[in-house]
Amino acid sequence: MKSLIFLLPVALAACVEHELDVSAEAGGALFQQNCAACHGVDARGAGVTGRELFNLPPDLTTLAADNNGVFPRDYVMGVIDGFDRGDHFSAAMPEFGAGDMGPTVIVERDGLGTPVPARLLALTEWLETVQE
Ligand code: HEC
Repeated sequence: MKSLIFLLPVALAACVEHELDVSAEAGGALFQQNCAACHGVDARGAGVTGRELFNLPPDLTTLAADNNGVFPRDYVMGVIDGFDRGDHFSAAMPEFGAGDMGPTVIVERDGLGTPVPARLLALTEWLETVQE
């Protein structure tokens, strides 16, 4: 009986983790499904659809290098979601926040707990791993 009580929380935690997979691996799979057509399978720009666009999808492996070596997490999340895009940002890229980005997880930002969609977080994690 004792072992059952011990195992229950572990099983529950495993369930929750499966549901909210914010790992870079999960993000990589999401990238191949939603972004690779434009940004390329390796995120270096010019995927099959991307090459047809007037505004070429940029190389996403140099985001950190272009930002003094610091991966611009907040900018990346804002661009993917669509809540933080400049006036001249190409309308070719869909605003993924308008669709279903999945349930949110609480992320600490500037000392404040902010809810961030799990898929948005996973995509951002993966992009950080492909920086040059
Ligand atoms: C239909 C084509 C298309 C799809 C699909 C697409 N993008 Fe884009 N993306 C673009 C274009 C075009 C730009 C350049 C926009 C601009 O600067 O005007 C861009 C820009 C970006 C930028 C900003 C890069 C920079 O240098 O500032 C990020 C980050 C990005 N995309 C991530 C993603 C992610 C992650 C996905 C998938 C969830 C995705 N994109 C899907 C076309 C696309």
